[in-house]
Amino acid sequence: MSRVVVTGRIPKPGLDILRRAGHEVDVWDSEDQQPREQLLEQVRGADALLTLLTEQVDAELLDAAGDQLQVVANVAVGYNNVDVEVCRERGVVATNTPGVLTEATADIAMGLILMATRRLGEGERIIRSGTPWQWGMFYLLGSGLQRKTLGVVGLGGIGAATARRARAFGMNVIYSSRSQAPRELELELGAHRVDLDTLLAESDVLSLHCPYSPATHHLLGPEQFAAMKPTAYVVNTARGPVIDEAALAKALQERQIAGAGLDVFEDEPQVHPDLLECENAVLVPHLGSATIETRTAMATLAADNAVAVLAGEEPPTPIR
Ligand code: DGY
Repeated sequence: MSRVVVTGRIPKPGLDILRRAGHEVDVWDSEDQQPREQLLEQVRGADALLTLLTEQVDAELLDAAGDQLQVVANVAVGYNNVDVEVCRERGVVATNTPGVLTEATADIAMGLILMATRRLGEGERIIRSGTPWQWGMFYLLGSGLQRKTLGVVGLGGIGAATARRARAFGMNVIYSSRSQAPRELELELGAHRVDLDTLLAESDVLSLHCPYSPATHHLLGPEQFAAMKPTAYVVNTARGPVIDEAALAKALQERQIAGAGLDVFEDEPQVHPDLLECENAVLVPHLGSATIETRTAMATLAADNAVAVLAGEEPPTPIR
């Protein structure tokens, strides 16, 4: 029997997999993040960790767990919270949950595109605040999507799923990515690859779908916003620090760009105070994968990963 520590509350089917495999499961059974000191205590002696994206998985945590630790199964597709190099050095397998949250996250990206371009957040705030309003020919005019260009940064699974949705709304798609997408995908989406400068200049909506790493830190900052159309929108469902939030707030305030839709933030759960002042920003609290079905699939995939490693098998989705 191995000891599996789950660092936060996850859907029960994930825990069932771990228990059915005969493991002792120790869960921090709360929606609130566990204080770090307590977490360092909890992981002591663990053979496997199921971690949430709010935990920093670093040398300190691995030291606290001990040499017997075999696997860190992150319950997220993004793994910027996991020091993969340190795991590798210590022979700890690290896994994530790609694939299962693709459609849910693309739904939120498309939702943010619609909310930002059609000013739905502003409209909702007007009604809820009791502000008088009346239908008017020029009242709260937004931008239509037909024949506009969606620029996708990172045409992986979520980027492609967002592009599919945008195509259904009549948009054209261009993308920038580290590597060329497969020809069939380009043909399906009618998309072609351009460099970031071209993407910035031509996009009516720019949607971020790249992983966060030192290479993508503040990928969008003052210079990039200045290079965009004043009628353009930025949407981020990837990771907050891909955008320089202070620069985005300035660009929104000065109408260098028309609007933004953000699901993720640089310093979650804090939101830059200047962004809160921007009527043209739609702000939602990291809901990309927040459906019952998706969170259940993430938990069961993470559990499958942990169980496989503990059984001496190749996990379904290792981080390579
Ligand atoms: C992930 O899995 O990386 C998502 O951000 C969770 O919503």
